[in-house]
Amino acid sequence: MKNLLNQFEDYLLDNLPKSQTFHPTFESALGDMLQAGGKRFRPMLLLSVIKSNKSLLLKNAMPVALGLEMLHTYSLVHDDLPSMDNADLRRGFETLHKKYDEVTAILVGDALNTEAFNQISNAPLSNDIKIELIKCLSSDGGINGMIIGQAIDCYFENQKLELSQLEFLHIHKTAKLIAASLKMGAIISEYDLATQETLYNFGIDLGLLFQIQDDIIDETLTEEEAGKTTQNDQDKNSFVNLLGLEGAIQSADTLAIKCIHTLDSLDEKLKLSLEELLLKYINRHK
Ligand code: IPE
Ligand code: IPE
Ligand code: MG
Ligand code: MG
Ligand code: MG
Repeated sequence: MKNLLNQFEDYLLDNLPKSQTFHPTFESALGDMLQAGGKRFRPMLLLSVIKSNKSLLLKNAMPVALGLEMLHTYSLVHDDLPSMDNADLRRGFETLHKKYDEVTAILVGDALNTEAFNQISNAPLSNDIKIELIKCLSSDGGINGMIIGQAIDCYFENQKLELSQLEFLHIHKTAKLIAASLKMGAIISEYDLATQETLYNFGIDLGLLFQIQDDIIDETLTEEEAGKTTQNDQDKNSFVNLLGLEGAIQSADTLAIKCIHTLDSLDEKLKLSLEELLLKYINRHK
């Protein structure tokens, strides 16, 4: 049997968004960044939770995993726009506003955002579960989640934030969607509310760690290594800019220890399933 990541990649390729009209390039632009790859961290979190206790549901959950990846991909397409981070490279390819134009990149982002919810609402899961999933994704990916994080990230360029404000920024722009990925897996798997909350809180720590590591990547990797524009955080409130590279690495180390501790405390099946995916991420700044 194919591993989970390969199953997800196959599902994605078979279900690329379609827009068959006389527009010459929009449909290929819609699929470009999804096909370009990426780590698929968020869908793999969701699927790994489901694998722990309801592996028979993995197939029915694929549209939800794809929806998550679409929403995340939209956030990257918009993040790279000239008015935001102005980046030319993403997932090893030219960004959409470079390859096509800014209008295309804005509209592909809009389309991937709405299509994410279309995917979830059409998944072969119960309506009650789908409403919970949509609530979670629209909240953590929306106004009080990723969007406010991105708004603060851009508004406060060249204005130093306090460390607590920096954590707020990172938790919102990145950690909430990662926490939502775990929680959405738990909703599909019908884990009890306490487990959903434990996984969500774990996701916040994990997501904060993930963004600190991303700030370290911006500082330390070439764009060939990262597959995206790097040395691009000069004006940002990044962990590296606020604490220095060593300070950022230390913060990442502290959070990594906390994450491993939480992982160890999870129910055995969840632990085993998530460990496989997470150990390399938790230690990736080392
Ligand atoms: C990049 O996310 C943006 C952040 C929120 C740090 P990823 O590092 O998950 O990017 P892909 O999906 O692998 O391209
Ligand atoms: C982006 O953070 C977070 C998003 C919500 C997309 P960054 O701006 O640091 O992500 P990269 O480094 O461009 O991938
Ligand atoms: Mg950004
Ligand atoms: Mg960026
Ligand atoms: Mg970054």
